[in-house]
Amino acid sequence: MNRITVDISKVEPFIGDKCLGRFQEEIHNCHKSLMERSGKGNDFLGWIDLPVNIDKAMLLRLKEDALKIAQCAEILVVIGIGGSYLGARAVIDALNNPFAALANEKGHPQIVYAGENLSEDYHSALMDLLDKKDYAVAVISKSGTTTEPAVAFRLVRAHIEKKYGRKEACKRIFAITDASRGALKMLAGTEGYSSYIIPDDVGGRYSVLTPVGLLPIAAAGFDVDRLIAGAADMREIAISTGDCEKNPAAMYAGIRNILYRNNKIIEVLATYEPSLQYFIEWWKQLYGESEGKEQKGIFPAGVTFTTDLHSMGQYMQEGLRVIFETVIMVEKPRHSLVIPGDDENLDGLNFIAGKRLSEVNLMAGLGTRIAHVDGQVPNIKISLPAIDEYWLGQLIYFFEFACAISGYALGVNPFDQPGVEAYKKNMFALLDKPGFEKESEEIRKRL
Ligand code: PA5
Repeated sequence: MNRITVDISKVEPFIGDKCLGRFQEEIHNCHKSLMERSGKGNDFLGWIDLPVNIDKAMLLRLKEDALKIAQCAEILVVIGIGGSYLGARAVIDALNNPFAALANEKGHPQIVYAGENLSEDYHSALMDLLDKKDYAVAVISKSGTTTEPAVAFRLVRAHIEKKYGRKEACKRIFAITDASRGALKMLAGTEGYSSYIIPDDVGGRYSVLTPVGLLPIAAAGFDVDRLIAGAADMREIAISTGDCEKNPAAMYAGIRNILYRNNKIIEVLATYEPSLQYFIEWWKQLYGESEGKEQKGIFPAGVTFTTDLHSMGQYMQEGLRVIFETVIMVEKPRHSLVIPGDDENLDGLNFIAGKRLSEVNLMAGLGTRIAHVDGQVPNIKISLPAIDEYWLGQLIYFFEFACAISGYALGVNPFDQPGVEAYKKNMFALLDKPGFEKESEEIRKRL
């Protein structure tokens, strides 16, 4: 089976062989805890078997709903925040024509996002757009009570009911939420929206292979079966062994923890494909929320090269030496574009005339790798054969599995996020939410 590979040859000079050997046993133990479901957060391990446990009837209904959306809507508004939207956006942006919105291509709806921020300007602009377009809505929230998507849904629901009438609006709204709890669950039941369940044992940031990711991805016109197949293949490799030489996810988890213990506390995930920008955002959430707790954790940052070589590249080359870099190198572009020759050669670029643009991009990548290693930035290379549904499925599962192992190696629970409550409490107090009277008084004194 072809698979994603991890190259650590440009890390070894920084850590030495001995260290990796010693670490293997620790990673084995983390893998064992995960597989035996005996580690921290073991009630949130439903994601491990998702690619082989998908309910076929649900998937069929989901594809039918995706078709209905495509038939009635030019736009699908995906309302959700964090794990309830980043996975879908990561895959859709990776696969979409970057100019799809302007290219006027018919067939599948454009996907736009709401409820992942509280900006009045952003949501006003969205309302203006929705005045002019036919649309449907996928509202996604596991808890069904998260403020940002709930506020956005209130706005969009009022809009869609006014535009189409309540009966038709109900046919255009799709709800993805918890099996039994939450305001969204109740509302979906009362209004009769087509609804999907997020399994209890799958946390938000591990939920892209549930309807959370699958419905928007299918509605955007992409092949969810191939995505699941890629994840299933990576699962087979990942669950089989904790041996870093045989399991790329174990290798990645191990090496990043060794680097962390060697004072490399920031990981920069880099890509040379702008279409992967949101994949990096998804990865940032996955690792940031899973590992950043108990006053520890690798800080996940992201860059898109070559553009960020002209900004963050300077810091990476010569700033504080606390960084390591992980690069996703895509082996095969989907298109071919050859650089033309020019008789006058005023720009001096005839030395690359006749070459494909991807070759220039590759040389930029190889050159940067050596430059950063020379600048004391260890480099992990993840080779992705291509950007398509299958390989993205492998990559998603690879990162999820590695994140779980890595969190265990760090000694934290990779499946909770207690820290995100702090801002909510203060926001509710400042907004005078009933029940927050005491906090409200206290926080106002501190403004
Ligand atoms: O990974 C997580 O659990 C979080 O990022 C959630 O996905 C995010 O907070 C949204 O929560 P909910 O789906 O309950 O609205």
